[in-house]
Amino acid sequence: MICVTGSSGTLGSEVIRQLSAGKISYRGAFFSEQKAEKARLKGIEAVTIDYNRPETLVPAFQDCEKLFLLGPNTPDQARLELNAVEAAKAANVRHIVKQSVMGAPAQSFSLAKVHYPVEVAVKESGIAWTFLRPNSFMQNLVTYMGETIRAEDTFYSASSTADISHVDIRDVAAVALKALTETGHEGMAYTLTGPEAWTYDQVSEELTKVLGRRIRHMNLSPSDYKDGMLAQGMPEEIADRMLDLERYFRQGHASHITRDIEQVTGQKARQYADYIRQTADSGIWGE
Ligand SMILES: NC(=O)c1ccc[n+]([C@@H]2O[C@H](COP(=O)([O-])OP(=O)(O)OC[C@H]3O[C@@H](n4cnc5c(N)ncnc54)[C@H](OP(=O)(O)O)[C@@H]3O)[C@@H](O)[C@H]2O)c1
Repeated sequence: MICVTGSSGTLGSEVIRQLSAGKISYRGAFFSEQKAEKARLKGIEAVTIDYNRPETLVPAFQDCEKLFLLGPNTPDQARLELNAVEAAKAANVRHIVKQSVMGAPAQSFSLAKVHYPVEVAVKESGIAWTFLRPNSFMQNLVTYMGETIRAEDTFYSASSTADISHVDIRDVAAVALKALTETGHEGMAYTLTGPEAWTYDQVSEELTKVLGRRIRHMNLSPSDYKDGMLAQGMPEEIADRMLDLERYFRQGHASHITRDIEQVTGQKARQYADYIRQTADSGIWGE
């Protein structure tokens, strides 16, 4: 059995969608009982877990040979994921496919510092492992920037003119699927990027072209960017984490391109322009 944590989230929901499409049996682990119930109504084997409550984890992971481990972007994310690693050991999980982040081992930015200690704990657990180290998701354009694009035809960053090789989560999920269902991925760390690196100005130009109305990218100073995140109610620790990520982008560390997606899945990584066109076709940007 395969257990998928974060099943209601951006990436986890795509992982279970692809597992369902492939008619591969799995157990979806949900944080919210309501979301678990909704999944059950669709015929999914769904359990509830809370990384803060280890007693919920062992029963959820029981009988699972493979675990897709994804932690939420919270101040205590590393501690939560470490609870899951302990539970995986207790439940005799054989292989952990861990959602990590690009550049984790160098620990030169906030998210890498969150993920790397968990990677180390997974390695030390004695359980076979595969690490997925994606760059920033293309889908962040909708998840985090969509509101202001719809309201003001503008999105904000503090990335300046940095090139970023954003990756489509459908490709990240496809790599996860391979690692969860095939052998040969044990002991592998995959750095997952899109096929090109774009600045946010290029993203705004593409959106403008596809939507037929001017969509602006506004580059903010780090302090204005942080103020914006705080004004939206983001906890300061998470705002600082995101700000440090923007610094990492600005310094050009997120521009490199890998072929890991193609090598693992046999399919070329999806392009940002195609993702943008698909969001437009889905009607999410309004008139
Ligand atoms: N976004 C990016 O560009 C990017 C790039 C590279 C790496 N990452 C990494 O990817 C991960 C985020 O992936 P995502 O965007 O798919 O996440 P997401 O959409 O924010 O989903 C987080 C999931 O965790 C669940 N969750 C929250 N609190 C929990 C708890 N206490 N116990 C158990 N489950 C809990 C959530 O359940 P509910 O839906 O019920 O709240 C949700 O299913 C992070 O580890 C991040 O560092 C992200």
